[in-house]
Amino acid sequence: MSNIRAVITGVGGYVPDYILNNEELSRMMDTTDEWITTRVGIKERRILKGENLGTSHLAAKAVEELLMKTGTSPDQIELVLCATTTPDHIYPSVASMTAEKVGIKNALGIDLQAACAGFIVALTTAASFIESGKYKKIIVIGADKMSSITDYTDRTTAPLFGDGAAAVLVEPTTEEYGVIDSELHTDGVGMKHLHIKAGGSAIPTSKETVEKGLQYTYQEGPAVFKYAVTSMADVTGSVMEKNGLSKENLNWIIPHQANLRIIDAVAQRAGVDYDKVTINIDRFGNTSAATIPLCIWEWEKKFKKGDNIILTAFGAGFTWGAVYVKWGY
Ligand code: UT7
Repeated sequence: MSNIRAVITGVGGYVPDYILNNEELSRMMDTTDEWITTRVGIKERRILKGENLGTSHLAAKAVEELLMKTGTSPDQIELVLCATTTPDHIYPSVASMTAEKVGIKNALGIDLQAACAGFIVALTTAASFIESGKYKKIIVIGADKMSSITDYTDRTTAPLFGDGAAAVLVEPTTEEYGVIDSELHTDGVGMKHLHIKAGGSAIPTSKETVEKGLQYTYQEGPAVFKYAVTSMADVTGSVMEKNGLSKENLNWIIPHQANLRIIDAVAQRAGVDYDKVTINIDRFGNTSAATIPLCIWEWEKKFKKGDNIILTAFGAGFTWGAVYVKWGY
C-alpha cells in the first residue's frame, strides 16, 4: 500500500425546511408519536417540497456549502462521487447533475448505489482513488430524497424516512490521518426483506404497478432489524479489534440512523457511552446515504484532530460495513 492516505478536509450539508413531525403523521395514518418515539426514536423528519426538485437539489446545496467552507474552486474538483438510491432520473447521474448546478466542469461525476451503506462505500472508493495517486480532490456526497419512494399511506414505513444531503472533500495526506481501514460486506439474502418491487428493468413502471404502489419501499421491518443489529455491531467490533481500538481510545461512533435501538446495540457492542455516539435520527429520521455525512456535518466542530472515529452503516442488499477514520483537522 502507498504511504498516501485519504483525509476528509471539509464537510457541507443541507436539509430542506419542511418539518414533518409525528403529530402530522398521526393525522395522516394510524400511528402515534409514542409508538414512533419508543420503537424508532424519530420525532420529526425533513421533506423536500417543490415541483420537480430531486436529490440533486439537495446535493447541490450541500456541495455549495462545502466549496464555500473549504475555499475550493469548482475547477479544482477531479471526481464527484454521489451515493444515492433516489436519483432525480434513472439517468443521468445525480453527480453529473450536481456538478452542473455548482459549476464543476473538470471532474468525472458518477453515482454509487449501496442504499443506506452508500456513503461509507463511496468514501472507501474515493480513498482508493486518492491512495492510488489518480485524484487529489474528490467530493463524496450522500444524498437521498427518501420521501419520493415512501408510501404515505403505509404506517410501517412512512414514519421512518426523511430527505437530506451532505458532502465531504477528500484529499491526500502523507500523515497518519484519514481513512485508515474499512470492512465492507454484501449478502444478497437481503433482497427479499428490503426492496422496491417496480420501476426497474425487471418490472418497469406501468399503470398497474403504480395502482398497486409498487414504486415504494417494501420492508419487512423485524427481519431487517435483526440483520442490522448483528451486522453493524459485528463489523464495528471487527474493525475496532483489527486496529487496536477500545472504548478508551475510540472517540466517536457515527452510526447509520435507521433506528435508535440499532444504534444502542452498536454502542453497547463497542462499549462506548452515548456521549461518544452521534445521533440525529430524532430530527432527521433515516435519510439513507445522507445519515452519516449529515452527522459529520453537525458534529464537525466537536471533532478534534487525531480523533478515532468509526463510521458504520447497514442497508438494502444487504450491504453493510464500517470505516475507521482518524480525523484530520
Ligand atoms: O436503513 C435501512 C435498514 N432499515 C432498518 O435498519 C430498519 C430496521 N427495522 C426497524 O427499525 C423496525 O423493525 C421498524 C421500526 C421498521 C418496526 O419496528 P418493530 O418494533 O420491528 O415493529 P413491528 O414491525 O414488529 O410491529 C410491531 C407492531 C405491529 O402490530 P401488531 O401486529 O403487533 O399488532 C405493527 O402493526 O407495531 C405495529 N406498527 C405500528 N403501530 C403504530 C407498525 N408500524 C406502526 C406505526 N404506528 N407506525
